[in-house]
Amino acid sequence: MSANTIEINRQRHRFDGRESVWLFGYGSLIFKADFPYLERRPASIEGWARRFWQGSHDHRGTVESPGRVVTLIEQPGVTCRGMAYRISPEVFDHLDVREKNGYLRFTTPLTFDNGEQAEGLVYIATPENTAFLGPAHERDIARQIAGAHGPSGPNDEYLLRLADSLRELADEDAHVFGIEHYLRNPDY
Ligand code: SIN
Repeated sequence: MSANTIEINRQRHRFDGRESVWLFGYGSLIFKADFPYLERRPASIEGWARRFWQGSHDHRGTVESPGRVVTLIEQPGVTCRGMAYRISPEVFDHLDVREKNGYLRFTTPLTFDNGEQAEGLVYIATPENTAFLGPAHERDIARQIAGAHGPSGPNDEYLLRLADSLRELADEDAHVFGIEHYLRNPDY
């Protein structure tokens, strides 16, 4: 199954004349920066909760056995902590391919740790995309993740690297840490 968003994203934003753009990463974009960047700074966005509700058929799973990766769900009052990268607009050619399984680029205000603010872009897989899986018990999400592998590697590596990165950012993401707990204690 594919919800290929490459062409839609290419037409969503015009970067004419801009030297750089901020990108906010909250999932694999925190721990796997396989793209050139000019600056990298911890940051947060408001009103969004990170959830393992997006299916991965192309990176951390397959069509037959999809993995689960994170997307953002609108939730007033919730802060999502992540990493902001200042990148040249050309880098979106690579990122649009990497994030092609259902993610669309949205504009967002972002706040750096020193209180400075900027506008940036963020990839979000909304419930309308065909790879969206939606909510499930964290124990079931952990089971699905434990059994999924894809071209980018095992799904559990994605979860564990994300959890470690969030600890480094001093984030308290109960959803991610809850799934991590079930993954590390499968008989719980
Ligand atoms: C992100 O990291 O910002 C998007 C989701 C992902 O690629 O894991």
